[in-house]
Amino acid sequence: MTVAVRVHNPFFARVWPVFAAHEAKAVKALRRENLAGLSGRVLEVGAGSGTNFAFYPESVEMVVAVEPEPRLAVKAREAAAGAPIPVVVTDETAEEFSDEQQFDAVVCSLVLCSVSDPGGVLQRLRSLLRPGGQLRYLEHVASAGVRGQWQQLVDATFWPRIMGNCHTHRDTERAIVDAGFEVECARREWTLPVWAPLPVSELALGRAHRP
Ligand SMILES: C[S@@+](CC[C@H](N)C(=O)[O-])C[C@H]1O[C@@H](n2cnc3c(N)ncnc32)[C@H](O)[C@@H]1O
Repeated sequence: MTVAVRVHNPFFARVWPVFAAHEAKAVKALRRENLAGLSGRVLEVGAGSGTNFAFYPESVEMVVAVEPEPRLAVKAREAAAGAPIPVVVTDETAEEFSDEQQFDAVVCSLVLCSVSDPGGVLQRLRSLLRPGGQLRYLEHVASAGVRGQWQQLVDATFWPRIMGNCHTHRDTERAIVDAGFEVECARREWTLPVWAPLPVSELALGRAHRP
């Protein structure tokens, strides 16, 4: 069943391109690593302002990039024009998106925190992959201890409201396994010193495939 979801976050859509343009070198390196070695047809979900596009290897035949937030979709199309590989941007949500041909890979970066039903979206993405096709993910995730409590507090108060429905305390690695993916490799990374209070500085980077 297709779930109708409207994504309209005008404040976030104004600030995100600024954040993305000033990302730390460490985050850029993780983006590049997340996309390394990809080939064939790739689906990128929630492309934002198209920050990943510059990092795709030339072995990728084409990227279909889903970005439903209207202001960000405009930015993504601008980034697509300068990308090293062909990129087509569509305004659909992950929930609505369908394609007649299955994809060789699906890329999620900093997006499974923002969808309303990550488990449902992951199942849909699995169905859009050919058997053996890879899910590449770079997602900030629930931390342990005091930082995890801080994440729960910000999620219950202001953070999703100003950050485009971003939820910082999600067990995304568990959701990937529960959606039927087989994880090939995964690790966690910190993009800021551990003491920094930003609730999104612990990232999970991994590769999984549709069995
Ligand atoms: C934090 S931004 C990340 C953008 C980009 N993936 C990146 O790595 O820079 C989250 C993105 O997910 C998009 N998004 C939110 N809900 C979505 C949905 N249901 N389907 C597809 N994209 C969605 C937002 O519009 C936003 O562009």
